[in-house]
Amino acid sequence: MEINLSNRTLFFCFLLITTGMATTAGLRFDNKSGEFKIVQVADMHYANGRWTGCLDVFPDQVSTCSDLNTTDFLYRIIRAENPDLVVFTGDNIYGHDTIDPVKSMNMAFDPVVALKLPWAAVLGNHDQESYLSREAVMRHITTMPYTLSRLNPNGSKIDGYGNYNIEISGPEGSPLVNKSVLNLYFLDSGDYSKVQSIHGYGWIKLSQQVWFQKTSLQLQKVYKRHDHLNDFCGNLTGIQLCYAGGFGYHASGKAGWPRRTRVVSAFLEKTADGQWGGVESIKTWKRLDDQYLSARDPLVYLKIHQHQHQHKIE
Ligand SMILES: *[C@@H]1O[C@H](CO)[C@@H](O)[C@H](O)[C@H]1NC(C)=O
Ligand SMILES: *[C@@H]1O[C@H](CO)[C@@H](O)[C@H](O)[C@H]1NC(C)=O
Ligand SMILES: *[C@@H]1O[C@H](CO)[C@@H](O)[C@H](O)[C@H]1NC(C)=O
Ligand SMILES: *[C@@H]1O[C@H](CO)[C@@H](O)[C@H](O)[C@H]1NC(C)=O
Ligand SMILES: *[C@@H]1O[C@H](CO)[C@@H](O)[C@H](O)[C@H]1NC(C)=O
Repeated sequence: MEINLSNRTLFFCFLLITTGMATTAGLRFDNKSGEFKIVQVADMHYANGRWTGCLDVFPDQVSTCSDLNTTDFLYRIIRAENPDLVVFTGDNIYGHDTIDPVKSMNMAFDPVVALKLPWAAVLGNHDQESYLSREAVMRHITTMPYTLSRLNPNGSKIDGYGNYNIEISGPEGSPLVNKSVLNLYFLDSGDYSKVQSIHGYGWIKLSQQVWFQKTSLQLQKVYKRHDHLNDFCGNLTGIQLCYAGGFGYHASGKAGWPRRTRVVSAFLEKTADGQWGGVESIKTWKRLDDQYLSARDPLVYLKIHQHQHQHKIE
C-alpha cells in the first residue's frame, strides 16, 4: 500500500477488514441500515470567532461574515447528514491569527461537542502557528469531550503528534458485534520540511510507516480470509479523502464559490443467512454550503468479484 504522501493536510485512511480482532465497545455500524457515515471537515481555519473576518467573499458579504459562518455550516451539515463520526483533517485553527489557540479550538469543535457526537482530528500545517506547539495543540484536542483523538500509540516511538487508529465494530445483534469491521488510520503528516535541502510541507516519516504496517499486519494476522477491499484503502485515501474541499470562511476560497465538505458512508453486505457481513461498498459525495446544501460528485466504490470498482454516478 502506498503511503508516500506529500499532501499537506493529512493521511486519513480506511483499512477494511471482514473478520477482525475483538474490539471494545465504541463505534459500530447501524444494525438496521448496515451503514456507518463520516463527515470530513478540512481547513476550518478558525481564529477568534465573531471578530475574525472571512476571506474571499463578495464585498457586500464582508460585514456579515465571520468564523461564526463556519460554525453555522458545521451545524447545518451535521443536522442534514446525521453522521456517526466527524473527522477534522487539519488546519482546524489558523494559528497566526488566533489570540488564544485553546479558545479557538474550543469554538471550532464546539458543534460536535454540543451535539455529543464522536469526533476525531489531526493537525494541518497551520494549527501550531500561535504560541502552542503541535504537541500541545494535539494534547488539548485529546482532552476535549466526545473526541476519539489520541496523541500517539502507547509504547512506540513515533514522529509527529496525532498518530492513531479507530476501529468500528459490526452492528448490535450481529455476529460481528465484537469485531472490528472498518479501521480508520490517522497519521500526522507534519507541518513543514525540517530538511534544509527540501522546501515545502512535511511528510509521513519512516517511524509512522513502521507503526502503520505493524498495526495493520497485527490486525491481518488474525483474519482467516484476506479481504481485497484492503487495497482500495490506499486508493480511496490518496485520491479522494484528502480533498474534502475548504470548509472555513477564514480560509481562502473564491467569492461566490460555496465552502464545502465531504461525506463518506460505508455499507455492509448481507450474507446468505441474512446476517450483516463485511463492508460491501463505500459511497462518498461533497456537500456545499449553499441554500440547499447541494450534493456534488458522488462516487461509489464496490467490492465485486474480489476487485474494487469505482463508479461515477451522474
Ligand atoms: C454569514 O452568516 C450571516 C448570518 O447568518 C449571513 O447573513 C451571511 O450571508 C453569511 N455569509 C456568507 C458568505 O455565507
Ligand atoms: C494507552 O494508554 C492509556 C493510558 O494508560 C489508556 O487509557 C489507553 O486505553 C491505551 N490505549 C491503547 C490503544 O492501548
Ligand atoms: C438490532 O439491535 C437490537 C438490539 O439493540 C436487536 O434487538 C435487533 O435484533 C437487532 N437487529 C438486527 C437486524 O440484528
Ligand atoms: C460480544 O461480547 C459480549 C460481552 O463480552 C458477549 O456477552 C457476547 O456474547 C459477545 N457476542 C458475540 C456474538 O460474540
Ligand atoms: C485506483 O483508482 C484508479 C481510478 O481512480 C484506478 O485507475 C487505479 O487502478 C486504482 N489503483 C489501484 C491500486 O487499485
